[in-house]
Amino acid sequence: MSTKPITPLVDVEAADPLSAANGFAGQDILSVSQFNRDNMTSIFRKSHEMRELIERQGSSDLLLGKILTCLFYEPSTRTSASFIAAMERLGGSVIPITQGVQFSSVSKGETLADTIRTLEQYSDVIVLRHPDVGSAKVAADYSNVPVINAGDGAGEHPTQALLDLFTIQEELGAIDGLKIAMVGDLRYGRTVHSLTKLLTQYDVSLRFVSPEILRLPLVIMNEVKDAGLNVRETHDVADVIENADVLYVTRVQKERFSDLSQYEEVKGHYEITTELMERAKAKMVVMHPLPRVGEIHYNVDSDPRAAYFRQVKNGMYVRMALLAAVLGKG
Ligand code: NCD
Repeated sequence: MSTKPITPLVDVEAADPLSAANGFAGQDILSVSQFNRDNMTSIFRKSHEMRELIERQGSSDLLLGKILTCLFYEPSTRTSASFIAAMERLGGSVIPITQGVQFSSVSKGETLADTIRTLEQYSDVIVLRHPDVGSAKVAADYSNVPVINAGDGAGEHPTQALLDLFTIQEELGAIDGLKIAMVGDLRYGRTVHSLTKLLTQYDVSLRFVSPEILRLPLVIMNEVKDAGLNVRETHDVADVIENADVLYVTRVQKERFSDLSQYEEVKGHYEITTELMERAKAKMVVMHPLPRVGEIHYNVDSDPRAAYFRQVKNGMYVRMALLAAVLGKG
């Protein structure tokens, strides 16, 4: 028998009292509507602490013994990898069903409900990406462990919106008072939907820049207007470049078009170039949830205002904070 001391398992009772304030222990994360300024402030404070922890010591055993299942029915690089990295850097483990759900029983016709009811037997938390709007809610209804929505079709992508907002705060110091321009596919881009909804809780001006057929859905525009925010829509990025504090650029979501000829008409509509950047404020930030397919030229990357790879890293810190919160260690 080994005489090595056994590392004590995580004691949920010993959770930081803040987790009670957050109220996320044992909860699903399905929509940004679950977040208010108070719980965002504590998630962001925790995300910042996660950054310091990683920079200081690389990892911790906060989630030792906990298992995350990453179940992805749609392609992903950043969201899946950052959840996996987040869990492993906190000492937890991952069941990754991310690189080909076709090799799971889904290809035999298993329903989402049965797949979830199976995976919850092995896991403490499930992260789901699925092409159907509302699928994360369906999964959560069947699961006894927390489900985190990592994108439900053209619906929502709440954890991306949180990391986007965290990035704005880290880059510019505050959110209130900013002019934020969203550019590209505002109709199908779920990251835009979630981020816009979150921003209705702040005192910001919003500029929506898209081709006519890719305008922000009316229901979200109404939420923005009901919140009393200063808002304007335009087709031309030149209209917003000089005053924007944040330029949030997105990819045209080819996979959501039923008529590909329409996609061909609008793809490549916006390109952020170094010439355009010359007209922007010195302290502005360019963000993108990525992947990009030509919307931001590669030679913009060396501009200190290009924040999209810092945004990628922030995704891991925010997901570390969220995993800790839902697992009662927030
Ligand atoms: C986004 C997504 O999947 O919605 N990517 C991401 O999660 N970082 C944006 C996109 O695919 O265009």
